[in-house]
Amino acid sequence: MKASIINVTGYAGMELTRLLYNHPEVTLVEVTARSAANQKLSDVFPHLNSVDLVIQEDLSKSTDVIFSALPHKASAETLAPLIAQKNRVIDISADFRLNDNNIYQEWYGVDHPCPEYLHQAVYGLPELYKSELQTALLVANPGCYPTSAILALAPAISAGLIQPSIIIDSKSGVSGAGRTLSHTTHFSETNENVAAYGLSGHRHLPEITQELLKLQPDHSLDITFIPHLIPMTRGILSTCYGTLLDDRGLNHSHSSIVELYKEFFRDCPFVKITNQPPGTKQTLGSNFCLIYPTVDQRTGRLVVISCLDNLVKGAAGEAIQNMNIMFNLQEETGLQNLAVFP
Ligand SMILES: NC(=O)c1ccc[n+]([C@@H]2O[C@H](COP(=O)([O-])OP(=O)(O)OC[C@H]3O[C@@H](n4cnc5c(N)ncnc54)[C@H](OP(=O)(O)O)[C@@H]3O)[C@@H](O)[C@H]2O)c1
Repeated sequence: MKASIINVTGYAGMELTRLLYNHPEVTLVEVTARSAANQKLSDVFPHLNSVDLVIQEDLSKSTDVIFSALPHKASAETLAPLIAQKNRVIDISADFRLNDNNIYQEWYGVDHPCPEYLHQAVYGLPELYKSELQTALLVANPGCYPTSAILALAPAISAGLIQPSIIIDSKSGVSGAGRTLSHTTHFSETNENVAAYGLSGHRHLPEITQELLKLQPDHSLDITFIPHLIPMTRGILSTCYGTLLDDRGLNHSHSSIVELYKEFFRDCPFVKITNQPPGTKQTLGSNFCLIYPTVDQRTGRLVVISCLDNLVKGAAGEAIQNMNIMFNLQEETGLQNLAVFP
């Protein structure tokens, strides 16, 4: 198979290149970027020195699959003509994740460049949409926080275990904010610091709500999602809290919840239910999402901890997992690396 990447110079495009280099069924034939156009990829990213490509301004070669790692809006603008020509596209930006154009406009503050394609897009969370992905032309790769939160809560919400009021407390490493510099990601302001942000509403909230509501359409959900920036390079850890519906959780032991989660993710090679609360280092560089569900018997609350590498399972790895499913390859192909530890 041949693949191309639009905007290779952000962290997501860069990580996609690294992972595709090891994919046995794919040749990366073309990569594009704006400011680094016409430079050798290995000059821009020396760690990719085995990938012999010159960065192009625009795509010129026909490929089986096109990945876009552009920022939102720019991504849909660039992809619209390629979608119209029936290319198979995986968009890592947020542009096709929300089904409702008004919600996109409200949260992203821009007019959608091609709302006519919103309903054609398949939400690229393989654990929920594997069969739809097999025939998808356009895949909306999920956000990094949404991947961790939706996977953590999907089994409980599908089983109708918890009340609609849910709290998602997430911590992210700084690469989640991308490569573009800002004061908040500046070393001297991030190092030895932990801070909450997005308290009035983070853009990933409508995405999390949209997908969790589809699992339990009878209930409204009241989700409080508070992200935090922490001084590490990669990784997301989400701790999710929901009150169990029955008598203060007494009918739910830790082991019964674990069984329910294991059964839900039975056919999902990249979700592991762990025996201990996981840490982000156990996912570094890998495509795994580690999930630890348990019950706080004192309060009757379900507590679910999930973690992943935001650039792999939260972006580039998930995109490749989606590609594997779209092209009828083994889902794990090219993604079997274990985490780098310590
Ligand atoms: N980082 C993550 O963990 C993560 C996870 C999931 C999804 N995503 C999504 O992936 C996409 C890329 O994110 P990222 O973190 O890789 O971004 P990033 O590291 O901040 O990179 C943004 C890159 O895009 C280029 N760029 C900015 N505006 C552009 C425009 N209008 N047209 C063309 N190029 C433009 C910039 O390059 P120059 O200015 O040098 O040209 C810069 O290299 C975003 O949509 C993001 O939401 C990121």
